[in-house]
Amino acid sequence: MDNISDRLISPSEKKEDASFDFSLRPKTLSDYVGQEKVKQNLHITISAAKKRGETLEHVLLYGAPGLGKTTLAHVIANELGANIRVTSGPAIEKAGDLAAILTNLSENDILFIDEIHRLNKTIEEILYPAMEDYALDIIMGKGPSARTLRLDLPKFTIIGATTQASTLSAPLRDRFGITHHLNFYEPEDIEKIVRRSAGLLGINIDSPASQAIAQRSRRTPRIANRLLKRVRDYCEVKSNGSIDEITCFDSFRLLEVDELGLDWVDRKILETIISKFKGGPVGLNTLAAATGEEMDTIENMYEPYLMQLGFLDRTSRGRVVTDLARRHLSDEAGGQEKLI
Ligand SMILES: Nc1ncnc2c1ncn2[C@@H]1O[C@H](COP(=O)(O)OP(=O)(O)OP(=O)(O)O)[C@@H](O)[C@H]1O
Ligand SMILES: [Mg+2]
Repeated sequence: MDNISDRLISPSEKKEDASFDFSLRPKTLSDYVGQEKVKQNLHITISAAKKRGETLEHVLLYGAPGLGKTTLAHVIANELGANIRVTSGPAIEKAGDLAAILTNLSENDILFIDEIHRLNKTIEEILYPAMEDYALDIIMGKGPSARTLRLDLPKFTIIGATTQASTLSAPLRDRFGITHHLNFYEPEDIEKIVRRSAGLLGINIDSPASQAIAQRSRRTPRIANRLLKRVRDYCEVKSNGSIDEITCFDSFRLLEVDELGLDWVDRKILETIISKFKGGPVGLNTLAAATGEEMDTIENMYEPYLMQLGFLDRTSRGRVVTDLARRHLSDEAGGQEKLI
């Protein structure tokens, strides 16, 4: 497991998730676990729009990878009984691509734009009148004789998803009537997701085992489902297929995922700061060089969870490992010795 994309506890989508995801995705708001406030608000807006027979306002969903933005977009469409068209920021390369998508929409359709922060500027500007006035401005001709032709579009709803709301331009952000932030899940909600997924997949799992998986899932549903799948594989080979606490622990030991869901890369980052830089502060570029990881990867993939655990601080002088992290690492090392 030397490659980042192979990393078991990466929150980003991997190829292996695809087939699995499809069967596990909740279809309705009541199936969608956790995020209670977001659900309550959406329930009201969806019911009101349906009651008035109006098109839903544009919705922006933001939150870290794997927290359920795509899932929620489909849930909203399903609850509205609307068709959903799916595209993404980087997939719309030319103005014509967007024009084709928009002119093919029907009344009340939903257009889901994933990674909306990656739309290019000129395309974004076409979206402004489309979102505000349901109109498409087409420029005919060039130079002084050019004129704009305004084409009416059916009333539709854009659901935009982004992991980086801060990089979205203000004019685009302002055109969303509804914005919801998905938070990392509460541990008991992750456990519910593990049990729900196990039920759908016909896996026998006891309560300590579902807790153990939840605890290692970095409060992220995608990781919970992926770990469940790996543990199931292990149990099918090593035992009778049902998952209990012991087989669960054995498989995590093999997968090198510790009890907080840290893997060897997280540990390498923390241990490097401790052993080579006396616990920090150390600058991001120095840390990247010392660990052999990309700066961007450290900053966006590893640090958020380490900081959330209180294991790493970002200070003006660089990264600092906390006492909490030192204690965790030494507990882990002690635990490993005991096992041997
Ligand atoms: N609230 C939830 N309840 C149950 N399962 C969920 C929930 N949210 C997400 N999942 C599961 O987690 C998987 C990943 O969710 P999803 O693909 O919607 O995340 P995302 O936020 O769109 O991630 P990305 O930023 O990578 O696009 C889904 O396939 C689904 O099975
Ligand atoms: Mg998604």
